[in-house]
Amino acid sequence: MKTTIFSQISIDGKLTMGAGNSSKELFSLFSSEDMEFIHLFRGNVQGIMVGKNTILTDNPFLTNRYEENKNPIRIIPTTTLDIPMDCNVLSDQGKTIIVTTEKGRDEDKIKQIRERGKECLICGKDTVDFVELERQLEENYGITSLMVEGGGFLNWHIFNQDIVDEIILMQLPIIIGGSTNITLVDGDGYQQLSFAKKFKVVEIQPNDNYTLMRYKKVI
Ligand SMILES: NC(=O)c1ccc[n+]([C@@H]2O[C@H](COP(=O)([O-])OP(=O)(O)OC[C@H]3O[C@@H](n4cnc5c(N)ncnc54)[C@H](OP(=O)(O)O)[C@@H]3O)[C@@H](O)[C@H]2O)c1
Repeated sequence: MKTTIFSQISIDGKLTMGAGNSSKELFSLFSSEDMEFIHLFRGNVQGIMVGKNTILTDNPFLTNRYEENKNPIRIIPTTTLDIPMDCNVLSDQGKTIIVTTEKGRDEDKIKQIRERGKECLICGKDTVDFVELERQLEENYGITSLMVEGGGFLNWHIFNQDIVDEIILMQLPIIIGGSTNITLVDGDGYQQLSFAKKFKVVEIQPNDNYTLMRYKKVI
């Protein structure tokens, strides 16, 4: 499985205009060509993942609006299954897999998700085991490429389980600030450099509205 973190960030690494806010406002700074770049990337992967909070704040479709029938399967991890049943990823015709844990298993909510024609997997005890999840996605759904769009809490878990092969950042030339704001990677963080996840720069490309930055995992 190839796993790519794909994010729109500010110069100071923020993902949104303050915790609890949707990141959609940032998208107004992109041109239609920039938006096409994001959507076409979605068309090239088989799976797309965002954390549950992103579903609550942004209510995204996570589809490719620039090409027909080239939509990745939406994958949403959550320990609580606290997802509105009328959110877009559970209401439209696309494929969605909600992933929860043994601890969060709630048969009533699982039934409601399945009644909406969506899937629900249990993977991991207390938090989703992404290594095992990727194995299952590959074996049972033929997913060999996964794009992770955040937010910062999900990204922390993804990096911490060492499954990131590539990072693609569209860095907007703005400063947002805010010590409680969501950043590219939140969670506990590492206190020792030896634990920091290491990547090498493979591309820096200035564009009119953003700088494209690509990194690959150091093997
Ligand atoms: N600029 C961008 O590119 C971009 C992209 C995406 C999101 N965002 C922004 O980011 C913000 C949300 O970020 P966030 O850090 O608060 O939340 P998040 O990462 O979107 O979601 C966190 C939630 O996802 C679930 N989750 C994550 N890792 C898990 C694991 N290993 N096992 C089980 N469940 C797991 C948990 O749900 P439970 O609480 O149910 O356990 C957790 O509380 C929003 O403001 C959104 O607009 C920006």
